[in-house]
Amino acid sequence: MKKKILVTGGCGYIGSHTIIELLQSNRYDVISVDSCVRSTPETMRRVEMITGVNVHNYQVDICQKEDFFHVLEENPDVQGIIHFAAFKAVGESVDEPLMYYRNNLGALANVLEACQKFHVQNLIFSSSCSVYGDVKNLPVSEATPMGKAFCPYAHTKQIGEEMIQNMMVPNPEMNALILRYFNPVGAHPSGLNGELSPDKPNNLIPIIMHVASGVLPQMTVFGTDYDTRDGSCIRDYLHVSDIAVAHLKAMDYLIERKNCQQCEIFNLGSGNGVSVLEMLHAAERIIGQKLNYQLGDRRPGDVPAIYGDSQRANTLLDWHCQYGVDDMIASAWKWEHYLKNEIYDK
Ligand code: NAD
Ligand code: WQD
Repeated sequence: MKKKILVTGGCGYIGSHTIIELLQSNRYDVISVDSCVRSTPETMRRVEMITGVNVHNYQVDICQKEDFFHVLEENPDVQGIIHFAAFKAVGESVDEPLMYYRNNLGALANVLEACQKFHVQNLIFSSSCSVYGDVKNLPVSEATPMGKAFCPYAHTKQIGEEMIQNMMVPNPEMNALILRYFNPVGAHPSGLNGELSPDKPNNLIPIIMHVASGVLPQMTVFGTDYDTRDGSCIRDYLHVSDIAVAHLKAMDYLIERKNCQQCEIFNLGSGNGVSVLEMLHAAERIIGQKLNYQLGDRRPGDVPAIYGDSQRANTLLDWHCQYGVDDMIASAWKWEHYLKNEIYDK
């Protein structure tokens, strides 16, 4: 018998890819709760194109507790929640910190209260490598202490993790996994689902794709004087479908009660550091065209290098990345074509 999972933020980038993997496992039924404040209900049409399943999205703001609780009243058989819904733009969080604290922590408080009230025993929370701050010893493992948050967004993830840990104490039946993602990129290998980034994206891969497709005229490499092998910043990029599979394995792990502690933390990264210039050159090779980029100043707030040690997830969740940098770029490029043909040019 399939188990029902509630995915918050299911119309977003990682949420929609996770829904695809949950459905394709044939072990789970899914409902989604997404206000679409940062996405579109159209995502579910793309999920259906890939899986053949029409997932119901409740277009509800999770910060509106009564509306959110109605969803659980209608679905008393929910056995697990995967909580993606949050705001995630670093720069915006610096400009509008209260909006970030209200949305990210208000929504999480309601999700935790719902777990308590509706006896949902399995919770997975989207956290971020940004909780580590500027770490000197690489790779970072789950044992690496949290550093000072470099922006309010990262701070909401640090507080969110502590909120979950504290909720475990009075709720011994509750189980949670905190997943700290590094840099998820790419799109579904079919090219039919990917990230709907804002008009002016902030992240490297969407910017590279927009430059390659002519949506943006040029781009800048932010900093070439870092103490790294080629002077540009190093990050741990991983394919969004690999992250999605990690959530499927994480939910299996919780449902099968393989967790030793009530709340466990896992890094999700590829374990490989890739520089900005290496990423650009790989993109030029895969796409088959020169990219119009200039070498520029450092971007404020960037750490020189961060990459993760994901051995815990490899061993305990039996999760291993299937895709490499070339697949990340090739899938993102397919998705850029889809966006251009189906969305931008319409
Ligand atoms: P996304 O913006 O594509 O998806 C988030 C979804 O949540 C959106 O569809 C948005 O409409 C919805 N949402 C936001 N607030 C809501 C609310 N109050 N009620 C209902 N829906 C709401 O982001 P994503 O990249 O899919 O990220 C998912 C999660 O992973 C987030 O928690 C993010 O912080 C975390 N994360 C993302 C990255 C990344 O680089 N993409 C890295 C680390 C962690
Ligand atoms: C990657 C590298 C830039 C654009 C962010 C969040 C982090 C996590 C993942 C949520 C950096 C460089 C970028 C450009 C460039 N998200 N770059 N030119 O900053 O590593 O991580 O997403 O939790 O919290 O901070 O990702 O894609 O913005 O940047 O040179 O036009 O690309 O300087 O070194 P980042 P990013």
